[in-house]
Amino acid sequence: MDVKQPIPGGVPGGDGKDKFMKSHQVAFYRRQTQGPKMQYQALLDTLILTEKGARFELLEPNKQSMLYVSVSPCKNNTVRIVIDELKPIKPRYRVPDVLTQEPKCEMVRLEERQADSVTLSWTSGLYRCHVWRLPFRLEIQCDDQTVMTFNAQSKLWFETLRERSQEAEADTSEDNLWRETFRDFVDIKANGPTSIGADLRLHGFHDVFGIPEHSDSLRLADTRDDEPYRLYNLDVFAYEIHSHLSIYGSVPLLVAHKQDRTLGVFWLNASDSFVHVNYSQEEDGPLPHTDVHWLSESGVIDCMVLLGPSPAQMYRQYAELTGYQTLPPLFTLGYHHSRWDKDSQEEVAEVDAGFDRHHVPYDVMWLDIEHTDEKRFFTWDPKLFPDPAKLQCYLEKKNRKLVVIIDPTIMVDPDWSLYQEGRDGAHFIMDREGQIYQGNCWPGNSHYPDFSNPQTRAWYAKCFALDRYKGSTPSLHVWLDMNEPTVFSGPELSLPKDTVQFGGWEHRELHNLYGFHQHMAAVDGLMTRSGGSERPFVLSRAFFAGTQRLGAVWTGDNLSTWEYLRISIPMCLSMCVAGISFCGADIGGFIPEPSPELLVRWYQAACLQPFFRGHSSMNTKRREPWLFEEEVTKAIRSVIQERYRLLPYWYTLFYRAHTSGLPVLRPLWMEFPHEKIIFSMEHQYMLGEALMACPVTESGVTELEVLFPGAEQFWFWYFSFGMTSNRQTFTKEA
Ligand code: GLC
Repeated sequence: MDVKQPIPGGVPGGDGKDKFMKSHQVAFYRRQTQGPKMQYQALLDTLILTEKGARFELLEPNKQSMLYVSVSPCKNNTVRIVIDELKPIKPRYRVPDVLTQEPKCEMVRLEERQADSVTLSWTSGLYRCHVWRLPFRLEIQCDDQTVMTFNAQSKLWFETLRERSQEAEADTSEDNLWRETFRDFVDIKANGPTSIGADLRLHGFHDVFGIPEHSDSLRLADTRDDEPYRLYNLDVFAYEIHSHLSIYGSVPLLVAHKQDRTLGVFWLNASDSFVHVNYSQEEDGPLPHTDVHWLSESGVIDCMVLLGPSPAQMYRQYAELTGYQTLPPLFTLGYHHSRWDKDSQEEVAEVDAGFDRHHVPYDVMWLDIEHTDEKRFFTWDPKLFPDPAKLQCYLEKKNRKLVVIIDPTIMVDPDWSLYQEGRDGAHFIMDREGQIYQGNCWPGNSHYPDFSNPQTRAWYAKCFALDRYKGSTPSLHVWLDMNEPTVFSGPELSLPKDTVQFGGWEHRELHNLYGFHQHMAAVDGLMTRSGGSERPFVLSRAFFAGTQRLGAVWTGDNLSTWEYLRISIPMCLSMCVAGISFCGADIGGFIPEPSPELLVRWYQAACLQPFFRGHSSMNTKRREPWLFEEEVTKAIRSVIQERYRLLPYWYTLFYRAHTSGLPVLRPLWMEFPHEKIIFSMEHQYMLGEALMACPVTESGVTELEVLFPGAEQFWFWYFSFGMTSNRQTFTKEA
């Protein structure tokens, strides 16, 4: 779809797809996929057992470059494989702040040593790891069954750091390792080529899921003749559907499922990454397998294999690593009303009153960028909002809350105190020449806080203090937008990879952490504001692994079409598969106008998704539920009421996610792990373990055929509590 940004002052250029890179345009991807196969050799003589497991060296014979591998079996059936340079000329980036604790390691035994392999074991011999010398392979076995082979296809790739050479400066070819161009943008690589990659064969698995965010099917597609899945947070307005290109968030967790095991592969890397998925084909033999190939621009190989075996155990393992779902305040599970508009505080109060007048329950009113003083975040437009605290008190009296948008960009305005503090406190990202980086976003010329700096996060958190954020009250909550981050004037509408962050790291190393770090700071700010007595609500557009412990996310700027309604389901399911339960999509589509039928069907579907918010763009017609024909208003009212009836159930599910790590929305295989036929189903899914959802997502449809999994199971039709047969057609009027 070639969509122009139809928003006043929107993304300049607006020329759609070619603003974003395809894999073949990315130099490190080309090098890894077109370059020679490296045959690594494990130097088994160097193997030592440490308190973290086993460690040995790897040699790439042609290059004579030396790496080391550490294999750490951890408590909770997780194996961590780290590969780094043995003697790097300087340290390589390791992702901070995502793991909530260093995984605790098991004692490893050396079971057997042969000329060509060694065997390690742990947990009373249940698990084994074989390391093969040449070609280097690492195999994990459970009960004598091979579950996973690392480097099965010899795709291990590791570009070691090197000194900059004179030729590097002079070379102007496309293959220059120190410089890359895309459109008019030049990316200078201060450290030269640093990319890494590895393949894993998942034995017996033929269904893999996760690695959001993509607008694609729940079961990952085979990428043999297709684009790989990309993980690189980008602001893609009206993103293409059924695409593997990246959009707003990234979680490098891939989950494989077969009847007797669920297995996770967590690739802890925050740089630009690609994932190829290849399902075995018939000619590959009787036992199916899936080959997964990860490629990242920099960092180290840090790969955690979560061995399950049940879905519940796998999610516990993942939550132990990256944190449990935050328990949201109850009100955040109700209905949210949002709109990008220029309403004044009286007009907002009028909309609020409309909900009461029309008996439509709701809990949260949202304000978009126009509420600010010319897009200076943490301020209010003095004409539209002369007394914002009054509005919050008015809402609070009805037990309702206000959410305001805060973009990361800080307007370059030397007379503005927040700008001055950011500049004087050295809180902004720098360009490669050592100047404060200046990009363009909603405020015009802007600087970008460096949230990777703990001091910047602390400063930013303080900006939410009630005495600093003028006009804010304890009932004000926060929406973080444009935090991939968006730079209208930047490459792929984002920050140049060669900008410089805390510790001298290039942005390329930690791009996918930008929104996550802002999210951390905002949550901390709201928590501190209340002296730790409140659970904050912060929605973020960009996300990473670990976002589940911070707040909610949504699927960004979708369109008002049936296709976008349909895709919202696998998109939310994929986020849940990757541990982020609090997710949803703009009801009705952000832009342009949904038909009344589509709007009602969208409410019905969204009512069965965790984050339940209507939102629309400025130059669309308003969508307050009472602005339609009475029939439509009635249908929307009844859906929202239904949501409120189910609120205790939603809250319980979140409590369960918070304490067990199990996602709130579940693909059917999570509840019925043995029923192969349902593994890839995405139009039916579970809300927890007790409710199955199957929304209508097509025009003109009033009957649906539903499959009831679980041979021994009794199913009841929610609306009448009548018992069902095993395959039944239901009629659901709009
Ligand atoms: C972005 C957001 C959208 C918001 C708009 C204006 O497009 O995704 O939700 O309304 O910016 O702030």
